Amino acid sequence: MARERWSSKLGVILAVAGSAVGLGNFLVFPSQAARNGGGAFMIPYFLALVLLGLPLMWIEWTIGRFGGGFGHSTAPGIFHTLWNKNRFIKYFGVIGIFGPLVIFIYYIYVESWLLGYSIFALLGKYNSCTTEHSMLAFLQGYQGVVQNQFFSSIGPSYTFFLITFLLNILIVCFGISKGIERVCKYGLPILFVFAIVLMVRVLTLGAPDPAKPDYNIANGLGFLWNPDWSALKSAKVWLAAAGQILFTLSCGIGVILTYASYLTKNDDVALSGLTAAATNEVAEVILGGSIVIPAAFAFFGPLATTKIAEAGVFNLAFVTMPLVLQKIALGNVFGFLWFMLLFLAGITSSISLAQPAVAFLQDEFDLPKKTATGIFAITTFVLTNSVIFLLGKGAVDELHFWGGTFCLVLFGTIETILFGWIFGMEDGWTEMHVGSDISIPRIYRFIIKYVTPVFLLFILGFWCWQEWTPLILLRNIPAENVPYIIGIRLMLVGLFAVLAILVWIVWRRKELRST
Ligand code: ALA
Repeated sequence: MARERWSSKLGVILAVAGSAVGLGNFLVFPSQAARNGGGAFMIPYFLALVLLGLPLMWIEWTIGRFGGGFGHSTAPGIFHTLWNKNRFIKYFGVIGIFGPLVIFIYYIYVESWLLGYSIFALLGKYNSCTTEHSMLAFLQGYQGVVQNQFFSSIGPSYTFFLITFLLNILIVCFGISKGIERVCKYGLPILFVFAIVLMVRVLTLGAPDPAKPDYNIANGLGFLWNPDWSALKSAKVWLAAAGQILFTLSCGIGVILTYASYLTKNDDVALSGLTAAATNEVAEVILGGSIVIPAAFAFFGPLATTKIAEAGVFNLAFVTMPLVLQKIALGNVFGFLWFMLLFLAGITSSISLAQPAVAFLQDEFDLPKKTATGIFAITTFVLTNSVIFLLGKGAVDELHFWGGTFCLVLFGTIETILFGWIFGMEDGWTEMHVGSDISIPRIYRFIIKYVTPVFLLFILGFWCWQEWTPLILLRNIPAENVPYIIGIRLMLVGLFAVLAILVWIVWRRKELRST
């Protein structure tokens, strides 16, 4: 079977940028920045970008393209080509399929709420909710967590989930250039336009309530960006910045190496990786940082905005922003732009999360695309249903911790050590510059070999020291949720075991064939 390829250089950059620009940019980043020292947060954030994000971006583009040359699109095969003397390294590669799968199964459900809400915004369905309390009740009714005057069943939410799920499956089934590339080529520019329109609207709000002139956009920007230097003393702030960089750039997940595996040998990776990262940072810092928190400040003031930032990302998206946008002219249209922007950011990311598992089945089991996508669809459909029905029990937080936080650091550490120490910096650097349109500054030889792995190992070590015991013993989980969280953890262990067994079967067959 001929390998799939991207049809243009711009296409692959937009696809990687599409994977990176997601809910992390517009929701998680502003809430993290507001909670972790405002402008001061940008110091650990920027350091993490330079010392973790960019190196991992280049490593993943490079090893992805390298592995693709041997017919592998996913980490087990790619890791094996980098270190074929080691029999176990391919099992570490399982994390690069497991992580995106775990993120996919909750991300897709949240993404489907965005589609639902974009229609509700146009139809004015939540217009009667004028307080935080009623907007939250609307959200909880929609999620099926409670039954109330807004929703008597989970039916509408489930319908939007089915539509979103099918849309994702269809795009992946259409393939790399006709599906993923095409959607990102249109989706990403459209979402940028929507975000710019919203940003301009927010920045021209002035002081919406003449009785409270201090509640204005300039002070809102100050609220988010004025540095609180004391925050830098807290290790948690540094860890939050590092985690945010990995998640927002989609680095350490396992998706970028899969996308890069569809490049050809002489396609540039250095400039393309940099461009994709830069696109993501514009979307995150400039657009993401100028919409939701400054707008919340202008309408609700400093105390309420502090609470809003702490209440989490769902509140920002589904409670605060609809309340804000309702108060301005053409609120329904701006509400639609807001939710559609997030939906597009979400779908261009979720298709990238689906691709590794599909590619693994295609490459390693020689399955046709449709069959591979079908198996992926059935598996994730079942798994996502468990998320839907366990939503009120903390399922999303649990999955986000393992799939969207822990695995990224672990996988990033393995990739970096493999690249800098096993494949070797000499060969790695040469490979990175094959067909490259720029020369990466030489200091990155040192950073990739020493600084990035030490930084990542430090995060892992610190995390194990501080969080491991309460986490494993479920100390921070409300007692009534404990059985469900144990169930989710068992499901995750089972999923990992199945993937590891599949890897074992693949290599066993290869061995038998070669003898
Ligand atoms: N990078 C994606 C996001 O930020 C996963 O949401």
